Amino acid sequence: MTKPIKIFIPRDSAALAVGANEVAQAVEREAAARGQSVQIVRNGSRGLLWLEPMVEVQTPEGRAAYGPVQAEDVPGLFDADWLQGASHPLAQGLTDEIPYLKNQQRLTFARVGITDPLSLGDYQAHGGLAGLKRAATMEPAAIVDEVIESGLRGRGGAAFPTGIKWKTVLSTPAEQKYIACNADEGDSGTFSDRMIMEGDPYTLIEGMTIAGLAVGATYGYIYVRSEYPDAIATLNSAIQNARAAGWLGHDIAGTGRAFDLEVRVGAGAYICGEETSMLESLEGKRGQVRSKPPLPAIKGLFGQPTVINNVISLATVPIILAKGAAYYRDYGMGRSKGTLPFQLAGNLKQGGLVERAFGLTLRELLYDYGGGSASGRPLRAVQVGGPLGAYLPESQWDTPLDYEAYVGISAMIGHGGLVAFDDTVDMSKMAQYAMEFCAVESCGKCTPCRIGAVRGTEVIAKVRAGNEREQQVHLLRDLCDTMLGGSLCALGGMTPYPVLSALEHFPEDFGLAKSSQAAASAA
Ligand SMILES: Cc1cc2nc3c(=O)[nH]c(=O)nc-3n(C[C@H](O)[C@H](O)[C@H](O)COP(=O)(O)O)c2cc1C
Ligand code: SF4
Repeated sequence: MTKPIKIFIPRDSAALAVGANEVAQAVEREAAARGQSVQIVRNGSRGLLWLEPMVEVQTPEGRAAYGPVQAEDVPGLFDADWLQGASHPLAQGLTDEIPYLKNQQRLTFARVGITDPLSLGDYQAHGGLAGLKRAATMEPAAIVDEVIESGLRGRGGAAFPTGIKWKTVLSTPAEQKYIACNADEGDSGTFSDRMIMEGDPYTLIEGMTIAGLAVGATYGYIYVRSEYPDAIATLNSAIQNARAAGWLGHDIAGTGRAFDLEVRVGAGAYICGEETSMLESLEGKRGQVRSKPPLPAIKGLFGQPTVINNVISLATVPIILAKGAAYYRDYGMGRSKGTLPFQLAGNLKQGGLVERAFGLTLRELLYDYGGGSASGRPLRAVQVGGPLGAYLPESQWDTPLDYEAYVGISAMIGHGGLVAFDDTVDMSKMAQYAMEFCAVESCGKCTPCRIGAVRGTEVIAKVRAGNEREQQVHLLRDLCDTMLGGSLCALGGMTPYPVLSALEHFPEDFGLAKSSQAAASAA
């Protein structure tokens, strides 16, 4: 009997949302009707989201991609002999040769879209578990040192060195320590956490287990936003499989040491992504920011020392342990080591996930990968780093994507999401939206944010209406100063960034004269 031909149809929710399940059913039906032997693999997404559902056929030359495929395209694809990788209007050529993918440096995302996310065999066949096996032979302090050496910084937003955080937890004695994975992923235009959880869940489990061995924690929680039902289901299945295989439990991977974890589901508050609010929520309370100190690394979940890391930070740990700190540190620039999975969203022709070493520019992401605006109009502004990130005008698109370089232009890279806008955007409206967002999402603990964001919304509305414009702008700047300096956490403390960047770079949208500097850079 001939070997069935493998057909990869993503189970990632970005693909499901545009009909991947229907495509899978159509392929199954059509193959059966034609007596053709196929094996459908439900993989993660390769990250070329504008081509979803992107279906791949395994050919002797490699995987051939077709997309975006709808169920009604399937008979035509069989007619065109796609099982041999034949040409068709939806054919994209060999997947690995598509420039968007070929020109990436996938370390954290090495397996995503390649493997069946829930197959333990696939995971190991593609390098999985090598990091945990090495970590199991090392002293806890040596694991921590390796992570420090790699230069890995937190990918959730604040970019704090991961290994240093771990060192604090390791050196704090306690009966019980925890690993808490922040999978709240509330930033606008971000989806890399979701793609890892749906496309390669074992790498997150492995990263958390290594963190447990490193700091002496025996239990972990993954705090996932409720808007991610597919990620939650995939993680729960992966945890069950990992337990059954002995990768989790009383004797992980034959080390004689224990580690286990569970998924906890959030209830839809942006502030629950802030680490101390997340702890409150995990403890069953309303998500509200805790004052620091004490640091969660010393007194965190249930009062115990706790490592809190973003999904991408933890999912990057296995490759660092498997290949060594130097391998990872060789990527990137300055103090921004390794790679970052950038997420391209908003008004772009080719939205998706691009993992590259730090140091490339926004312009490269927008045009070489993003293909320019989806609307065909000129791009005008890009918000980088979520709702608290600055709006960058074209004059700043050549700044290298490096944590320090971005601080230098009063911006932040954050979780690596970018949202692009064309020249129809009204930046005064975006500034007002930033304040409204803060007002709605504020946890209410401190006054500059709770009251300031409401007043900020009102003041920007007055500016936009041309009501005592100069005076109101003065008031707005004053208010932003108070929020920047007086807020307890970054929600109130960073909302001024999008507001002030809009005012600075796009004053004409507020009915103000362009500053000489902005006019010169636009010329
Ligand atoms: C308002 C607010 C929302 C945040 N949302 C998230 C989030 O959704 N996911 C995340 O990983 N970090 C988020 N953070 C950052 C966390 O507080 C924390 O720095 C991070 O989880 C630590 O992990 P890392 O060091 O691996 O980045 C948020 C911070 C603030 C102030
Ligand atoms: S800045 Fe806002 S969200 Fe943060 S603690 Fe203060 S009120 Fe809460």
